[in-house]
Amino acid sequence: MNLVNQLIVFVIQFLPKRLVKRFAMRYIAGEKLDDAIRVMKFLNLKNIMGTLDGLGENVSMKEESLLATQAGEEVLHSINENHLNANLSIKLTQFGLKIDEEFCYSNVRSLLGIARRYNNFVRIDMEDSPTTSATLKLYERLRSEGYENVGVVIQANMRRSEGDIQRLISMKANARLCKGAYMEPEAIAFKSREEIQLNYLKLLKMLFDAKCYVGIATHDDFLVSGTYQYIQEMNLQKADYEFQMLYGVKIKLRDQIVADGHRLRIYVPFGKHWYAYSIRRFKENPQIARYVINALFSRD
Ligand code: FDA
Repeated sequence: MNLVNQLIVFVIQFLPKRLVKRFAMRYIAGEKLDDAIRVMKFLNLKNIMGTLDGLGENVSMKEESLLATQAGEEVLHSINENHLNANLSIKLTQFGLKIDEEFCYSNVRSLLGIARRYNNFVRIDMEDSPTTSATLKLYERLRSEGYENVGVVIQANMRRSEGDIQRLISMKANARLCKGAYMEPEAIAFKSREEIQLNYLKLLKMLFDAKCYVGIATHDDFLVSGTYQYIQEMNLQKADYEFQMLYGVKIKLRDQIVADGHRLRIYVPFGKHWYAYSIRRFKENPQIARYVINALFSRD
């Protein structure tokens, strides 16, 4: 981390919470489920799909995970009641992955049961490297038990991802492909922007070749145009993939992708844990902290 980035991350922690809230709320729907539902209705009107994420992670008490499971169920009910074109994204460490894998598995399975009733879908986000194997193991177990309404995430910055994809394509995984948001050591992760971009396009091609449904999660113009090229060369149909972006990020690019006729889904985080979430994200990825500082001083 260079000195300027270190300084930015350091300073942000000492800013008053209300100031952090001012920019954090650009990227978070609000503190309540109703806030997220309101944002989703607005996005759906613009022909944009969504995925809702009730913020929280690294839970250490079973009670908290059970509450998160209940909250996830409410999200699924609410999506159904409001006839929204949206699904649910979850982080396994919120559902007890670090407490007891079996307990986490049963929480996620209960969410999938409700999602299945509504013909809906749950995406398991990918967290930092100590959780990768356990996350994939749980995903593969759910798939082997017949749950088709669940998807996984692959991070292009991780050296292991190519091997993971080899396994996942054999089960026609529904995969979101992203660069990876966590600071990882060089021994296990690509570090340069170019290496990550190249690996992203390589992994995307593997998934497309295997006819897996892919969520192309990026705001990087280079990757979006690389994807457009694949779509054309491989004559892919709109139903074979979707673009995915984070709420509040690169609105012009978002609208352009939709105007070009592609399916696009926005990841909408919400919940009372927005402060801890934002600060953790800034520490993990100082680039995001830079966006925040820019946002503070921009009129956009
Ligand atoms: P890059 O970081 O180069 O960004 C391109 C441009 O987009 C930037 O120049 C900036 O303008 C803008 N931008 C990007 N991120 C921004 C932000 N947060 N705020 C403001 N502007 C921003 N990661 C992970 O490890 N596990 C996961 O499960 C997911 N899930 C996920 C879902 C979705 C829908 C998206 C879009 C992303 C994720 N990610 C993720 C995060 C992902 O790994 C990555 O950290 C970010 O998307 C940033 O990478 P880009 O590909 O956008 O490129």
